[in-house]
Amino acid sequence: MAEQNLTKLAYQTLQQGKSIAGLAHKGLSTKLMELFAPEALPRGSDIGKELLEDLRTSMMELEQIDWQEAEAGIYPKSLLFEAPWIEWFTKYPLVWLDMPSIWERRRERKIRDLPKNIKEEIYPDYYLQNFHHQTDGYLSDHSAEIYDIQVEILFNGTADSMRRRVVSPIKRSLARFMNQGDRNLKVLDVATGTGRTIQQLRVALPNVDFYGLDLSGAYLKKASKYLNNRNGEMVQLVKGNAENMSFEDNKFNAISCVFLFHELPRVARQNVINECFRILKPGGKFVIADSIQMSDSPQFIPVMENFRTFFHEPYYLDYVKDDIEERLTSSGFTNIEGKSHFMTRVWVAEKT
Ligand SMILES: C[S@@+](CC[C@H](N)C(=O)[O-])C[C@H]1O[C@@H](n2cnc3c(N)ncnc32)[C@H](O)[C@@H]1O
Repeated sequence: MAEQNLTKLAYQTLQQGKSIAGLAHKGLSTKLMELFAPEALPRGSDIGKELLEDLRTSMMELEQIDWQEAEAGIYPKSLLFEAPWIEWFTKYPLVWLDMPSIWERRRERKIRDLPKNIKEEIYPDYYLQNFHHQTDGYLSDHSAEIYDIQVEILFNGTADSMRRRVVSPIKRSLARFMNQGDRNLKVLDVATGTGRTIQQLRVALPNVDFYGLDLSGAYLKKASKYLNNRNGEMVQLVKGNAENMSFEDNKFNAISCVFLFHELPRVARQNVINECFRILKPGGKFVIADSIQMSDSPQFIPVMENFRTFFHEPYYLDYVKDDIEERLTSSGFTNIEGKSHFMTRVWVAEKT
């Protein structure tokens, strides 16, 4: 019992520490922008005291569910502390060094400032942008090296807690196949980026074959390095467009997709859902985790508006108003459930 309390305290302290670090970083970078690049400073909506309190409560609820699911054995508690701390520590200065070029892109409204050596013709047009004013977009090793730290800062250290919300529904989905004697289970993570969702899933589900797909070769390289340096089965990483995947019909027992949909235009969003339906086995589940939307979290609309104002997120406004349930239904999915956790909405949909 004492050990349990101590682990819980350690987890809470870690989350608090990450939250303070994230807020301090954002406060300091805003001050620097005021000093050195005031024209680049975005004008966001005011986040009043009440809204701040709601955000804090919602964050605490996320922390609670994360702890409860670890305690219930859905994933090991060690996962709550899992991060490449030393690497993040050494890469953190790069985040600061990158800032002047982000300010410049923001000030000059440069949204297609990408490496010269990329073959533009192999990517969809909507992808060739500096999402969140990211240097090189998703198309360089430099971008892949600092992406995880940037996301941790953006979400005040809750990014992995939000990603972990896909573990429980994926696990439940697989239990059904296991009960039918299926021992050859396959799970795909669509738009896997640097592989953090796969790591959460792989630790919770040690006897499953994992696949990750992404359009960015640089991010997949980073994912491969990260996953190879950790315990777990080999993962197959595939470069490709989620709108048109090379996998055969009915291949996967479950599919996850984290933080992709808000970066896609409407047509692409539907294409990805259709593709996931095609490659999922009957009885399998598709689990999406992405930004909350206006309809499920109206109290956080000013936060959504600020997100769009502060970062280059060209499809976000359309996404927060989109009806994802309707898209899932029109692809053929049934038994659709949705639940919000802090800044993330999770949909679970079944291919019956
Ligand atoms: C915001 S990141 C999310 C990455 C990861 N899932 C996470 O949790 O950090 C979006 C990812 O989607 C990938 N992406 C965007 N459009 C894509 C597409 N059409 N097909 C495959 N990957 C895509 C990007 O390369 C990037 O890695």
